[in-house]
Amino acid sequence: MFVEGRLLEKPLRWGMVGGGKGSQIGYSHRDAATRDGLMQLLAGAFDIDPARGRDFGTSLGLDPQRCYADYRAMFAAEAARPDGIEVVTIATPNSSHYAICKAALEAGLHVICEKPLTIAESEAEELLALSRARQRVLAVMYGYTGYEMVQQARAMVRKGELGEIRIVQMQFAHGYHATEVEGSDPGTRWRVTPASSGPTYVIGDLATHCFQLGMLVSGLRLESLSCLRSSFVKSRAPLEDDAQVLMRLSGGAVGSLWASAVNVGSAHGMKFRVIGSRGSVEWWDEHPNQLKVAFVGQPEMCYERGHGYLDPSARFERVGGGHPAGYFDSWANVYRRFAFAMSSEPAARERLAGQWFPTVEDGLEGVRFMVRCAESADAGSQWMPLKRA
Ligand SMILES: NC(=O)c1ccc[n+]([C@@H]2O[C@H](COP(=O)([O-])OP(=O)(O)OC[C@H]3O[C@@H](n4cnc5c(N)ncnc54)[C@H](O)[C@@H]3O)[C@@H](O)[C@H]2O)c1
Repeated sequence: MFVEGRLLEKPLRWGMVGGGKGSQIGYSHRDAATRDGLMQLLAGAFDIDPARGRDFGTSLGLDPQRCYADYRAMFAAEAARPDGIEVVTIATPNSSHYAICKAALEAGLHVICEKPLTIAESEAEELLALSRARQRVLAVMYGYTGYEMVQQARAMVRKGELGEIRIVQMQFAHGYHATEVEGSDPGTRWRVTPASSGPTYVIGDLATHCFQLGMLVSGLRLESLSCLRSSFVKSRAPLEDDAQVLMRLSGGAVGSLWASAVNVGSAHGMKFRVIGSRGSVEWWDEHPNQLKVAFVGQPEMCYERGHGYLDPSARFERVGGGHPAGYFDSWANVYRRFAFAMSSEPAARERLAGQWFPTVEDGLEGVRFMVRCAESADAGSQWMPLKRA
């Protein structure tokens, strides 16, 4: 059950890199981090354009002295202050994540990084080692993991209610980029440009989300995959705007994933379906308060958020059943766990107990998945093990 009131003695001193004015995802971070008073935004290098970043930071009410031209200046200046930031969120285009994460960890900060964690496997491996060596939390913002019905699906699998898991279907297929919108939209342009996006477009941008959800809920691990990727808008090549992935999963299960930006008519199209020997669950992020559940020989049911029949892990609602909860609530749930994991207050550990949040290990798995998909597709959809030999 949701607990209101002061959850930490002191909110974490928090800064941001990226997420500037007009960015797609900056507001989501600021809303989620500050919703429960667990983090306080005190500093930022919000924009690739220093003047625009400073103007934006001051418009948010920050001390102009703490609106920095770039992340290096911010980490150095904040480290020199007794009240300097303890945590930083990185919400910049993909190819910059590695260098900024590395500098942040070296500056002794806990880090929340956007997905994909990095654009190369070796970079993600290095960050994992660095976060362990520095004993700092490096978390990855898989924001959909905070939905209550996602936790319910996970709990049902863990309790064995679905039997042995056989099939995991994953999808994130929207239709916003069916035409060459990048001509007039910088936020799409960097996504279809290898230097900023990395070796993939929709695989890193979209598939990493539903892959992560599918593995979280099923509790399985990806063993090998075969990927077919297409650039239906030709100018996007070599980056894909559609990807179809077949998977062999642990325990003899199989999986499939469809990621697309050209699924005309679809708003978000993010779903998973996990099928076991006794039952199945299905969830769609456009109807996040419902979970379709079926057991062999019985009619399909619809579990609703906020009810007493749900697993306790799925009952951390901010508002009772009947009122719809949504995207921002899911993000705030994830940020709550980040704050508890990053705070040095003993009570924070207790509050985190039994709760799960997306870590650097999940980020590394996502990067491996992304890189292997690109390699498989470029080798004629050859089957490849997830892990390098
Ligand atoms: N978790 C999610 O659901 C989700 C959703 C959208 C985007 N993302 C991820 O968030 C990241 C940002 O995506 P976006 O859509 O907000 O991009 P965007 O292009 O809309 O915004 C990027 C912002 O970063 C700033 N920036 C770029 N380089 C910078 C640098 N070196 N230092 C400081 N600021 C810099 C830009 O000025 C801009 O304000 C990407 O990695 C993307 O994959 C995640």
